[in-house]
Amino acid sequence: MRVLTLYPGDRQELNLAGLYLDDLPTEGGHPFIYANFLASLDGRIALRNSDGRKGVPEAIANDRDWRLYSELLVQADAVLTTGHHAKALAAGEQTDMMTIAHERYPDLRDIRRSRGLSEHPACIVVTSRLDFPAAALKEAHPGAILAISPPMDAAKTRAAHKAGVETVMVGSGSQVAGRDVLRVLNERGLRRVYMVGGPRLFHGLLADGIVHRLYLTTACRLLGGEEDVETPVRGPAFPLPPEARLRGLALDLDGQPQQIFASYDLSPY
Ligand SMILES: NC(=O)c1ccc[n+]([C@@H]2O[C@H](COP(=O)([O-])OP(=O)(O)OC[C@H]3O[C@@H](n4cnc5c(N)ncnc54)[C@H](OP(=O)(O)O)[C@@H]3O)[C@@H](O)[C@H]2O)c1
Repeated sequence: MRVLTLYPGDRQELNLAGLYLDDLPTEGGHPFIYANFLASLDGRIALRNSDGRKGVPEAIANDRDWRLYSELLVQADAVLTTGHHAKALAAGEQTDMMTIAHERYPDLRDIRRSRGLSEHPACIVVTSRLDFPAAALKEAHPGAILAISPPMDAAKTRAAHKAGVETVMVGSGSQVAGRDVLRVLNERGLRRVYMVGGPRLFHGLLADGIVHRLYLTTACRLLGGEEDVETPVRGPAFPLPPEARLRGLALDLDGQPQQIFASYDLSPY
């Protein structure tokens, strides 16, 4: 699997494997939040697939993008995701979004140990309902699990705790604010935080200016589909639209569809 790097510097043909392995800051006294999306050329990140369920469009999901997803995952202290995703994980789906499939990527096996990371990243679930099956999630994810929610009734938090899922309640509204997520991550000393949730969560984090980097794979296929288009960000227009600065661009040289791997630095407040 080869890529042609286009920016910065001169063009270079490189192995795709390794492209993102040393791409994150190793030092830093605060959480570094990095997000990752795979989008079609017409900007879609989710569609109703052949199983009737909404998810990453099957017409663009591919191994090469998954390799880079996994390279970002292996470096994470924590994976930040949504209540919706927690339910899928609890049902035994998408578990390779949280833990590396070593039979698939044996070269990633020792990276966490060699970099002094915990065996598995912590799973941080942002939820307004706290209604995912906590025991099943605990079974599905071998690392620590923490749910961040607005104030919740005690029965729900008790059930989560009983299953071994920690909970933190923040704010006073019905949603979790990005700044509260940042505070909780910081209090727990979580430094490299991989945001793999969807467009509502991403919007809330961007609104509070707490995201440092966006990795965006654009698969060069136009999909069309539902009129209610799901793009990386969903929510009200930002009064101060966050600005991104291109930091890396590479063209995938193998496989169909052709795709572009881009990364952007955002300017957190
Ligand atoms: N192509 C890609 O790269 C990519 C990446 C990610 C997701 N996706 C797709 O995008 C679609 C949507 O994903 P998603 O539903 O996981 O993402 P989402 O739209 O960000 O999240 C929705 C859920 O997350 C929780 N949530 C998000 N922000 C919150 C906040 N500020 N406060 C409290 N709770 C909050 C809520 O959970 P509760 O319901 O528990 O309250 C809510 O139902 C899915 O089809 C997914 O497959 C695609």
